[in-house]
Amino acid sequence: MKQPLSPLRYPGGKAAIAPFLEDVIDLNNLRGCSYFEPYAGGAGAALTLLKNGVISEIHINDADIRIYSFWKNVLTEKDRFVDNIFSIPLTLDEWGRQKKICDNPENHSGFKIGFAAFYMNRCNRSGILQGAGPIGGKQQKGNWKLDVRFNREKLAERIITIAMMKNYINVYNEDAIKFLKQQLPKGRGRSGAFAYLDPPYVNKADKLYMNIYNEKDHRAIARYLLQQKKLHWVLSYDDTPLIQEIYNGQKICRQSLRYSLQSKRIAKELIISSAKVTLPSQYFEKKRKEAAA
Ligand SMILES: C[S@@+](CC[C@H](N)C(=O)[O-])C[C@H]1O[C@@H](n2cnc3c(N)ncnc32)[C@H](O)[C@@H]1O
Repeated sequence: MKQPLSPLRYPGGKAAIAPFLEDVIDLNNLRGCSYFEPYAGGAGAALTLLKNGVISEIHINDADIRIYSFWKNVLTEKDRFVDNIFSIPLTLDEWGRQKKICDNPENHSGFKIGFAAFYMNRCNRSGILQGAGPIGGKQQKGNWKLDVRFNREKLAERIITIAMMKNYINVYNEDAIKFLKQQLPKGRGRSGAFAYLDPPYVNKADKLYMNIYNEKDHRAIARYLLQQKKLHWVLSYDDTPLIQEIYNGQKICRQSLRYSLQSKRIAKELIISSAKVTLPSQYFEKKRKEAAA
């Protein structure tokens, strides 16, 4: 299996969706376009597409100051970040120090917040930043300890690879809709842009990452997307009656995605797109087979 590009572990991280998005981009003659991801998280899909030359630049946004600070400092403070990766102790004491920063980001510098987010993401169960214990528990008994996901060389390599692409990576810390309103090209230029959205899930998202999304917010992003005439957008969501109702009448298909963290289950997600996007037909065929089964 190819090494992931993202240094962040994300429950349901979407690096796996990159080949599908590449097909979508090619089918819609968008190769080389600017790419916008308002709920970036680990940004695995964005980074894969950029590294493979499918898109020319990425605009990644996350409302969580800790995630934003991570990306910002990987790009602007690469050497310091890498030095820290090699020197930081992987101990329960250090875990406690990083946890305090992650829990109270307002009292710390951007670098410290970004590094603490990375540390907690690599050392906590399932990569969950807040409310999850360290891998191996507070007793650090058993085979899996908090350093098991912290391979210093490999993580430093990923940071360096990403920082090398920094001229093509733009990071933002806004609410998703505000980010789209401010950063998408205006006028005709919008037809040449591509947006991929992976919003917080309707079910159980609050346990995984920052989620202040309620039904009103899910409806608000839908309203914004459905009024877009020029933008090519693709959205992934958990398969719930609310999302089926909100996007009723749009192109919807189901895709199997393998979750890479603790559970190895295959997750069924809805893939929804704007009317002007042509989706690769094999995904529809899959849906027809599933329907027939
Ligand atoms: C489902 S995760 C995205 C996972 C990502 N696609 C990946 O592959 O790692 C949702 C992300 O949206 C962020 N988020 C939550 N509410 C937001 C909002 N209102 N605007 C922008 N980002 C938000 C969370 O911090 C989280 O990182």
